[in-house]
Amino acid sequence: MRIREIVITGNPVLHRPASPVHHIDDYILELVDDMFATMELAPGVGLAAPQVGEDLTLFVYDWVDDNNRQYRGVAINPTLVMDPLPIGPLDDEEELEGCLSVPGERFPLRRSDRVILTATNLQGNEYTIEATGWLARIFQHEYDHLLGVLYVDRLTHPYDREARDAVDASEWGVPGLSWLPGRDHLEG
Ligand code: NI
Repeated sequence: MRIREIVITGNPVLHRPASPVHHIDDYILELVDDMFATMELAPGVGLAAPQVGEDLTLFVYDWVDDNNRQYRGVAINPTLVMDPLPIGPLDDEEELEGCLSVPGERFPLRRSDRVILTATNLQGNEYTIEATGWLARIFQHEYDHLLGVLYVDRLTHPYDREARDAVDASEWGVPGLSWLPGRDHLEG
């Protein structure tokens, strides 16, 4: 197991759709192990393969809800069905989102309250989870990564501009930048 470098916005692998996983082989098992360790150390509640520079449609997640129930898993070649977005003003505290590939920044973004994730697990079996609330947000965020979409790409005025300014100020948005959890103290 090793901690992987997390690529920062501007790296092309983050901005294009990822390729399907065809075989769950040792390469994938090791990648997933590494991704869990990297996510834990970062720390984060979700991590998609493109964020560690791997052009593959899989993500990992690990989140504990208010009732101490843990949701931890791997989603390989997932599909996501979402309820329509709720209408009404954004809550700039309750709807704050962040991303390990835009480290240290958070911006409010509207997400669907309920989604259905269907994916393959490491044993090669398909599973379905209906998720609400924050878990639904995690799934939407990670699924977006597999489409080549970052949450900052979905921000609305004025947060879209604030995010662009933050990316410019950090001199991100160009290829080749990454950070290593445990060595660089940035957080998602
Ligand atoms: Ni992210």
